[in-house]
Amino acid sequence: MTTDWWKKSTVYQIYPKSFNDTTGNGVGDIPGIIAKLDYLKTLGIDVIWLSPVYDSPQEDNGYDIRHYRMIDALFGSMEDMDKLLEEANSRDIKVVMDLVVNHTSDEHTWFVESKKRKDNPYRDYYIWKDGNPDGTPPTNWGSIFSGSAWKYDEKTAQYYLHLFAEKQPDLNWENPDMREDIYAMMNFWMDKGIDGFRMDVINFISKDQSFPDGEVKSGDKYGDPGPYFVNGPRIHEFLREMHEKVLQGRDVMTVGEMPGAAPEDAKVYTDQANEELDMIFTFEHMSLDEQEGGKWNLKPLDLRDLKENFEKWQTSLHGVGWNSLYWNNHDQPRIVSRFGDDRKYREKSAKMLATCLHMMQGTPYIYQGEELGMTNVHFDRVEDYKDIETLNMYKEKSELGWPHEHIMEAIYAKGRDNARTPMQWDTSEHAGFTEGTPWLPVNENYQTINAEAVLRDKQSIFYYYQKLIKLRKERDIISEGAFELLMREHPNVFAYERIGEEESLVVLCNFSSEAQEIDADIATRIKDADRLISNENQGNRMALRPYEGSVYHIT
Ligand code: NOJ
Repeated sequence: MTTDWWKKSTVYQIYPKSFNDTTGNGVGDIPGIIAKLDYLKTLGIDVIWLSPVYDSPQEDNGYDIRHYRMIDALFGSMEDMDKLLEEANSRDIKVVMDLVVNHTSDEHTWFVESKKRKDNPYRDYYIWKDGNPDGTPPTNWGSIFSGSAWKYDEKTAQYYLHLFAEKQPDLNWENPDMREDIYAMMNFWMDKGIDGFRMDVINFISKDQSFPDGEVKSGDKYGDPGPYFVNGPRIHEFLREMHEKVLQGRDVMTVGEMPGAAPEDAKVYTDQANEELDMIFTFEHMSLDEQEGGKWNLKPLDLRDLKENFEKWQTSLHGVGWNSLYWNNHDQPRIVSRFGDDRKYREKSAKMLATCLHMMQGTPYIYQGEELGMTNVHFDRVEDYKDIETLNMYKEKSELGWPHEHIMEAIYAKGRDNARTPMQWDTSEHAGFTEGTPWLPVNENYQTINAEAVLRDKQSIFYYYQKLIKLRKERDIISEGAFELLMREHPNVFAYERIGEEESLVVLCNFSSEAQEIDADIATRIKDADRLISNENQGNRMALRPYEGSVYHIT
């Protein structure tokens, strides 16, 4: 029998490379995760989502898989993985693995074979095309990691498609043999007892087979291929087939990472009647602080856009599908630096942001270090960054004439390494993450921001998250209530109500460093209500203090 346990669960994402190193090689590992399971149990999370630990050349930190059924030696062995599952399950913690099947590494045997000859049985596992008569690539598509999305291969004189790095060739989902191999691999992991998959860019797998050129937007060198693979023509068919061949009858959870999916798409993907996925990750709320042209083109967030966006997702999926709720992951900058204040009001704003997100309907995701209020990082030299997206972008934008300082500002605000600096465990060297040299430098603020410190302080961000996780389990209204936006036009206050049959919750969040008045009708309603949780000790029910987040229970 399958159940929907994930509706009251909170997921914790581990980025293994940066979590906890037990061997001294500067890279986190699986035994390091096992050593911290009690820490996670104290936090109260129900599920771990493990970013890729499969065998990989690590061009994109494991999102380039060489062997789907092997654990990368960097992280440990299959025995370690089995032990992790056992130890997690004995603490009632479930484990969801990353599933990266839009592409593999170019070192995967399928691709090694595919490259050999045009008549190799694996040729069609990937997307190969002739160039144009003038020798240029088959289409003008740009890669998400800069440059052309096509790479020419001398040996067979054709191009292969890579939406991400050159070392991440896209799989050809039109090929039924390839799909069967993927399903067999998924069943291998399911049979091992994992509790689900987080599916990497899963709405990219079906490509428009006419392969048209993309529109070239101003300032760009390449065409935008998005319309020809985002939520592509056969995506629902593929997901239903995957459900039938792998997921059906298993009591697991699935979450699809889906850039470019709107609420209308999400309804189809997550309506249980359609037998596709349980929930998806939207990117819409993560794109509100960028201008046309992508994430590196910065613009300040207008809180009204964020409110409107959450309202749309909360109301569209209510009663039909299911939301996932997140501020952070390994691809996003740290939320306290992004929408909060990582200096004077760091603790306060981190708790406010947590309140705002965790009182909504959906399954919340916490990214490692979020519970400590970890912040963005500033490396002075571009060479200190390790992320392929950042490094490729630096090169491309420099060639386009962007000044160095301008590019660095964009990296400080949006670079993925902001999220990837090692977990800050204590005040010892390298924050207790490793006894060797960390693969990416530790954020220098680890002397004040670390797990040891938050565990000591009962008022810390950590214990605030613990309380939020517990409330979701205790109060059905958090997982079930309807959503209504309040104080819609207010530029600094995000207020909403969760409405049940006989009770409601009023959630008030101040996204600014100034006090803000509460609308009179709301102030009257909360006057005598119970305060369920707040990051303020004293309640003033007429106004919100700087970065206050408070929740009132009305019966
Ligand atoms: C999304 C992943 O989250 C990201 O880290 C990765 O680089 C791309 N997909 C490619 O797999």
